[in-house]
Amino acid sequence: MTSSLATVSYLGATILFILCLGGLSNQETARRGNLFGIVGMAIAVVATILGPQVTAGGLPYILGAMVVGAAIGLYAARVVKMTQMPELVALMHSLVGLAAMLVGYANYIDPAVSANLSPAEKTIHEIEMYVGVLIGAVTFSGSVIAFGKLSGRIGGKPMLLPARHWLNLAGLLLVIWFGYAFVTAHGVAEGMTPLIIMTVVALLFGVHMVMAIGGADMPVVVSMLNSYSGWAAAATGFMLSNDLLIVTGALVGSSGAILSYIMCSAMNRNFISVIAGGFGTDSSAPAAAGAVQPAGEVNPILAAETAELLREARSVIIVPGYGMAVAQAQHTVYEITKVLRERGVDVRFGIHPVAGRMPGHMNVLLAEAKVPYDIVFEMDELNDDFPSTDVSMVIGANDIVNPAAQEDPGSPIAGMPVLEVWKAKTSVVMKRSMASGYAGVDNPLFYKDNNRMLFGDAKKMLDEVLVALKS
Ligand code: TAP
Repeated sequence: MTSSLATVSYLGATILFILCLGGLSNQETARRGNLFGIVGMAIAVVATILGPQVTAGGLPYILGAMVVGAAIGLYAARVVKMTQMPELVALMHSLVGLAAMLVGYANYIDPAVSANLSPAEKTIHEIEMYVGVLIGAVTFSGSVIAFGKLSGRIGGKPMLLPARHWLNLAGLLLVIWFGYAFVTAHGVAEGMTPLIIMTVVALLFGVHMVMAIGGADMPVVVSMLNSYSGWAAAATGFMLSNDLLIVTGALVGSSGAILSYIMCSAMNRNFISVIAGGFGTDSSAPAAAGAVQPAGEVNPILAAETAELLREARSVIIVPGYGMAVAQAQHTVYEITKVLRERGVDVRFGIHPVAGRMPGHMNVLLAEAKVPYDIVFEMDELNDDFPSTDVSMVIGANDIVNPAAQEDPGSPIAGMPVLEVWKAKTSVVMKRSMASGYAGVDNPLFYKDNNRMLFGDAKKMLDEVLVALKS
């Protein structure tokens, strides 16, 4: 393939990637968006393999690596459960970071790369490599820790080192200092030491940054690492002089940054504070005077009684959470919705921006179960409607409906906007036990007079509710 044909293919792929991102911004167009992405990536891969940068001798290695990579990817995608998706994504981000690191080192060691460069070009290329390895290392170690936290292998509690902000600052100064030493080094042997030291500092920074994040703030970190992986890919693009990788990386990097910002707004968090770590997680902070301490008795309810409540209601708001994903209860939820709507009940869904374990988690599940989009609303769109709602039904959600976020300034989730389900005439919470949610905080909602607890697996309970509703 000639270089101009490769460029045209890259241009086509870039346009498809932009259309893909545009499509993914809306449930109704998400499938089409995904399709654009798949076609764009196929074009990109073929154009790269057949492009001028790959020699005939290298082709068998690339094809061999592709077969191995595709087999692992196919296997992982087939066996992964929907609830493990966020962990898988975190793991994939770590691979992008690792790739950027390795490409940086390979570039630096390869004498052919800088053989024909002028001194100025060589300096620029070295800065590209240094920054590429830096972003790659932070992305790699941060994503590995995020994988550990999301999969429960590492506890959700933040690890707050004393003087952690000073440690971060010292790390930054070291990176700048060794960057200077790297660029002014005479030869690879001399430059290798600062490069390795910086890599270690960056790896430690990635670990430190994500370890310091408290449970409820993980969504911001997940999207932030998504953004970092984009910048790592863009840096790799600079190192390999691959325009498509630069553009694609920048697309992922900037859309991830926008998503992180949206997540922060949704959580009422300051972006910088979340990155710096430990925001809102100061466990030593005393609970404010008059803080709401969960206490008292809970009122259990049976599935048949829940069905009765729903049958008599005129308006119902369903709030799904992580537990609905675990139980795979979305299809039964849809069946119940259908029965209720046929009876003239106004049923709507309230989606919290960080419900579940990944952005858009609930929307994906509800779309899969064919719940009509026009009855699915974002938190802000119907939070004012709870007081005029007969029944709010919480399905496997916890943190996102916790009134402590509003009522207890000492709570780790204080200030996070929540769905005000307790303002409905009656709220029903479906979960298996009194266990806390991801943030590890007790929930005063359970003890409210107008709240009922339907204990059990969400799918099993909803099946019983459906049978009772139909009878
Ligand atoms: P959570 O607060 O984690 O609560 C989920 C609840 O579901 C648990 O309390 C659990 O209680 C219940 N549950 C689990 N399995 C169940 C089953 N089979 N049947 C019925 N209930 C079940 O979830 P949420 O309200 O969706 O809030 C999300 C949390 O995750 C937030 O803290 C958020 O910050 C965090 N987070 C979100 C993301 C993204 S990007 N969305 C990423 C990382 C973390 P039982 O054990 O008693 O059943």
